[in-house]
Amino acid sequence: MAPDEKHHDYPEPTRRGMQTRVILTAAAVVAIALMMLEYYVFFRSDIGPEQPIPFSHRFHVADRGLSCILCHPGVINSANADIPTLETCMLCHHTVIYYHPQIERLRQLYSTGRPVAWARITQIPNFVFFNHSVHWRAGFDCAVCHGEIAQMDRIVLQQKIKMGFCWNCHVKESFSTDCLICHR
Ligand code: HEC
Ligand code: HEC
Ligand code: HEC
Ligand code: HEC
Ligand code: HEC
Repeated sequence: MAPDEKHHDYPEPTRRGMQTRVILTAAAVVAIALMMLEYYVFFRSDIGPEQPIPFSHRFHVADRGLSCILCHPGVINSANADIPTLETCMLCHHTVIYYHPQIERLRQLYSTGRPVAWARITQIPNFVFFNHSVHWRAGFDCAVCHGEIAQMDRIVLQQKIKMGFCWNCHVKESFSTDCLICHR
């Protein structure tokens, strides 16, 4: 039997049957999209890694008005922003809320003289050269790369810093994308 003579013993789909199928498929797609949205809303991590001391940027920056530069002065004149030592914290907590349990812990850690093992959040591989002060002088806000740190209790990575992220801004700003400026 030639293929075009193939005999169907079921009815050809009607127009209405087709419509029903299209509607059911669309409904299924919408349902799956909603489930994914729900998953995103409830399971995305809004909160960064736990730190040895529950230091809150929101509390110190948004509420108390401290400047980023007070604790990360490196951004002005060096490649690294740096994490402040406990000495910086003690400038204030030597007196401010002295008896707060977390500040007692802070003092204990401080008295050991060992650096605090803060969990790192933003990191690029060692083979990439990056310099904070150059970008600081070019006038970019910290939030361009780090998100709204001032609103965060525990810092969470807002965007993974991939090559394309650096590259796209260099193109937009008509700055060099020579491989050797970032890979020296
Ligand atoms: C009172 C001191 C203090 C101030 C003010 C402060 N920071 Fe921090 N910052 C810290 C400490 C301590 C850490 C390490 C603990 C942590 O990650 O929360 C840190 C961590 C960070 C990190 C994460 C580093 C990493 O591993 O990725 C970023 C980014 C950052 N700060 C940006 C800012 C910005 C932007 C501001 C101003 C809006 C600011 N900081 C103000 C003390 C401070
Ligand atoms: C310029 C002053 C200043 C510096 C520097 C500073 N703090 Fe504070 N911190 C404050 C003030 C003000 C408060 C709020 C006190 C109050 O509630 O009355 C506070 C509150 C806190 C609290 C308690 C928050 C809570 O949940 O109640 C912790 C913990 C803390 N700071 C940790 C740190 C650490 C860690 C550093 C160093 C990275 C630091 N602070 C540096 C001024 C400072
Ligand atoms: C153009 C993007 C960009 C801008 C703008 C930027 N940072 Fe960063 N920051 C980075 C990258 C990339 C790293 C990771 C560096 C690494 O792994 O060596 C980083 C790391 C850090 C760290 C961790 C410690 C360190 O030195 O590696 C801190 C703290 C920090 N930045 C604070 C700031 C503050 C405060 C500002 C604003 C004054 C700022 N950054 C502006 C890209 C940026
Ligand atoms: C928001 C825009 C922006 C982003 C994001 C950005 N850059 Fe830049 N970058 C610039 C501009 C603009 C300059 C030129 C500044 C000047 O010298 O005027 C520059 C300069 C540089 C330089 C030259 C520094 C020197 O020593 O001469 C390097 C290296 C560099 N960026 C690396 C990076 C890397 C790596 C990243 C990603 C982690 C990055 N940049 C992300 C805008 C950006
Ligand atoms: C503006 C800065 C910048 C420039 C310019 C740049 N890179 Fe990169 N490159 C990065 C950063 C940041 C990373 C690390 C993050 C990542 O893996 O995407 C990276 C990673 C890489 C990697 C490793 C990728 C991987 O998956 O591990 C290669 C290979 C590379 N770059 C090659 C190049 C070449 C070739 C050029 C020139 C055409 C170039 N890069 C120009 C910033 C830059």
